[in-house]
Amino acid sequence: MPTHSSDSMPPVSRSVKDLRERVSAWRKQGLKVAFVPTMGALHEGHVSLVKLAGKKADKVVASIFINPRQFAAHEDLDTYPRNETEDLIKLATAGCDLAFLPSAKEMYPQGYSTSVAVEGLSRDLCGLSRPHFFGGVATVVCKLLNQCQPDIAIFGEKDYQQLLVIQRMVRDLDMPVSIIGGPIIREEDGLAMSSRNAYLSSAQREVAGKLNMIMTSAIRKLATGAEIQTTLQQASKSLLAEGFDRVDYFELRQKTDLSFIDKGTLQADQLDTARLFAAVIIGKTRLIDNMPLSSI
Ligand code: PAJ
Repeated sequence: MPTHSSDSMPPVSRSVKDLRERVSAWRKQGLKVAFVPTMGALHEGHVSLVKLAGKKADKVVASIFINPRQFAAHEDLDTYPRNETEDLIKLATAGCDLAFLPSAKEMYPQGYSTSVAVEGLSRDLCGLSRPHFFGGVATVVCKLLNQCQPDIAIFGEKDYQQLLVIQRMVRDLDMPVSIIGGPIIREEDGLAMSSRNAYLSSAQREVAGKLNMIMTSAIRKLATGAEIQTTLQQASKSLLAEGFDRVDYFELRQKTDLSFIDKGTLQADQLDTARLFAAVIIGKTRLIDNMPLSSI
């Protein structure tokens, strides 16, 4: 194992007390603090959010915590990739000033009994096949924001529904933080970067790249007046023909509240507000992606 000097890594807090002390010292100096929560196994998508945070604030805190509450019993909590040393080096290079790496015990001590539910938004799209998911995410993000107390927090549009759920939670619970979205970072063939892409075999990885192509082609058709239902159904068929095992959803929605756009053809004034959402399964891996209609 290579060793790394401590200056190639950011300082690390493992307790809420230590995190609070460091962040409050910055705030006393009048510095603006940005926060980027992650589950580690960092890639260029995460790095882009840390860099964006650095442009918008004086100090950047990133957390790495694989949150057990957002995984169902049959999901990949035990196999989720873990790379602490590499992650810390990537965070330092991206300009992170402090890494928060709490243990599960620090986050959920004996007797922990509170959860946050964002109704409505959490029951749709990914929430239908992962009913536990957004409750787990809202709970941990609520805790992380209370622990860190940043001025702003950055979330990727890769998990667009998650971004909306967090924005709604912060508004509904009057939490004093601005939630900012960062753009999706993609591989060369258009596959959205994800820690879970590491699960794909090389044959599956090749198929995975087709998702971007099929979404882009559907967007082109929708934007030029093709019938919505027919286009979405044809795209789902193409995904199966290209080698995906299942299409969880492939839908056109309003970007602000995820309401359906599923009748007739797209109107000119909907081009700015419509977003295409997809979740597909390949082997045991579930991939999600989304794109604005205005992206073409
Ligand atoms: P994780 O999947 O590690 O993602 C952390 C952040 O990185 C999220 O805001 C996610 O949207 C963003 N991200 C992931 N892939 C991206 C990409 N290709 N381009 C841009 N941003 C990307 O999302 C979670 O962790 C967790 O649910 C968390 C919010 C940390 C709560 O546990």
